[in-house]
Amino acid sequence: MCGIVAYIGKRDAYPILINGLKRLEYRGYDSAGVALLNDNDELNIYKTKGKVSDLESFTNDKDINGHIGIAHTRWATHGEPNDINAHPHISRSGNIALIHNGIIENYLTIKKELQNRGYEFKSSTDTEVLVNLIEDVQLTQKVDLFEATRIALNHVNGAYAIVLIEKGHPDTLIAARKGSPMVIGIGGDEFFIASDATPIVGMTSRVVYIENEEVVKVRLGEELHLKTIDDVEMTPYIQELQLNLESIEKGGFDHFMLKEIYEQPTTVRDTMRGRLHADLGKITLGGIFDYEKKILNARNIIIVACGTSWHAALVGSYLIELYAGIRVKVEYASEFRYRTPVIFPDDVVIAISQSGETADTLAAIEIAKDKGATVLGICNVIGSSISRVTDAGIYTHAGPEIGVASTKAFTAQVAVLTMLAIHIAELNGHLPKSRIMELIHELDLIPQKIQTTLERSDIVKDIAEEMKDCHNAIYLGRLQNYPVALEGALKLKEISYIHAEGYPAAEMKHGPIALIDNDMPVIFIATNKSTYEKVVSNVQEVKARHGKIISVVTEGDILVKEMSDYVIEIPDTECTYAPLLATIPLQLLAYHIAVKRGCNVDQPRNLAKSVTVE
Ligand code: M6R
Repeated sequence: MCGIVAYIGKRDAYPILINGLKRLEYRGYDSAGVALLNDNDELNIYKTKGKVSDLESFTNDKDINGHIGIAHTRWATHGEPNDINAHPHISRSGNIALIHNGIIENYLTIKKELQNRGYEFKSSTDTEVLVNLIEDVQLTQKVDLFEATRIALNHVNGAYAIVLIEKGHPDTLIAARKGSPMVIGIGGDEFFIASDATPIVGMTSRVVYIENEEVVKVRLGEELHLKTIDDVEMTPYIQELQLNLESIEKGGFDHFMLKEIYEQPTTVRDTMRGRLHADLGKITLGGIFDYEKKILNARNIIIVACGTSWHAALVGSYLIELYAGIRVKVEYASEFRYRTPVIFPDDVVIAISQSGETADTLAAIEIAKDKGATVLGICNVIGSSISRVTDAGIYTHAGPEIGVASTKAFTAQVAVLTMLAIHIAELNGHLPKSRIMELIHELDLIPQKIQTTLERSDIVKDIAEEMKDCHNAIYLGRLQNYPVALEGALKLKEISYIHAEGYPAAEMKHGPIALIDNDMPVIFIATNKSTYEKVVSNVQEVKARHGKIISVVTEGDILVKEMSDYVIEIPDTECTYAPLLATIPLQLLAYHIAVKRGCNVDQPRNLAKSVTVE
């Protein structure tokens, strides 16, 4: 949902801004722009439809001098992606340039008021309205830009992370945020501002995360000056950045997505490190230690999430109910926030989010908090908004996920939920100690089994060749493999643009079976032991209608294997752990199909990594 980056210091701003945009491009990539204030106090703005590389070509023969600048990569909300709607936007006088991530919900009302007073607008964006509102406040109330920004933001509804530069002020950046993320890097004699820490890595390790409704003046030679939009002075809290360069680079892989798929033996191990003690047969989850009683006494556990995180939540609900015997409801955060949900103060709400910035999930958290529920977070991005607004939480520790299609974050979320389910069972005695020991011992083997799954996945390339021209696909699974089917279908849709549906296998006969013919690939996740025979019957039903059968089975399988056109074998494990393995070949399948179709795997059309708007 748009990436913003800004620099002020002694160095040339342009290369730092471009490099920062490239690292943020996963957030949006339909247009890009930069504004630089050169040493003659000229404000040069360059923007273009397309990617950051297009912006670079566009600026080839332009004046890119300056030691202060702001830059933006866009995921369009208001107005189509084109040169005019691209950021930065400039105020009527031409003195102020602004970049923005978020949505100003009441921008039409503000626009009308400004138009009535003679303002004209070139773009269809809410951002152009905001920069003019700020300038209007500055002129009418005779205040500086910092104060004008603070006052103007009191008239604004919605979400924003903004940075402004102003002619005549080559030593100052003004920034503010609400809803959309923002971090400031503090160097020796320079500052960086960005949507997340990736553009700052390698520049400085001292960072300040700006809180909601805070405005900041970043001035060379001075401390950060931080205020709330209500005019309350705040003290910046400087933290040490825990991110290294290696973790945000491709490391020899063609795409981030492939790198992230192959990282999973390590990332799942990292998720469990220090928490799963196979030798002691116990699990410790330090982040939620103070809330264990609340969890044990929970009337319901409600999990809110979106997209892939919602699929992980479904796996989690299955595990928590099975192991711990507590009722779990899984909700789309976007629905939950608008449908007057019944929540009791003794409910525990768990918000799952890779980015920790998803607007719908944040809104769902607010509702749960208003109703007095305990709210826990499962996030990947350290210091993200969700990790800060929840009562407590568990980080997934999967490392930065740059590919827009989520892969390693999913397995990390499932690993956390698996540990959580076993841990609750440990605490409430729902499972005997011997069974807990078995589960812990087997979970400890999962990273190695993910490695084996990856090594056995060569067949996926042949399946991708077979499927690359298909128009539709159906994914079927039962119990905890149903979310795996949903996730497999989502991955295919997102990056290859092939229409795909995931269903509980037994639901096929209630409708989707009408779609089966010899052009329809049907992907079965057929690893469950308890429902194995049922799935075998479903495979037969597809075979009888000449569907192409691709199956993910447990090693040693005979029945499904015989009926399938293609088979992917995963190592034997607890049937409840199958999602941690069976998802891997489905990620690879989507990846190879997308590559064969010439799609942009890491930046699929219309998508953005972090959905910070509704
Ligand atoms: O950052 P979050 O986990 O909250 O994001 C939720 C979804 O937007 C995300 O999972 C999305 O569905 C991905 N593109 C899936 O690959």
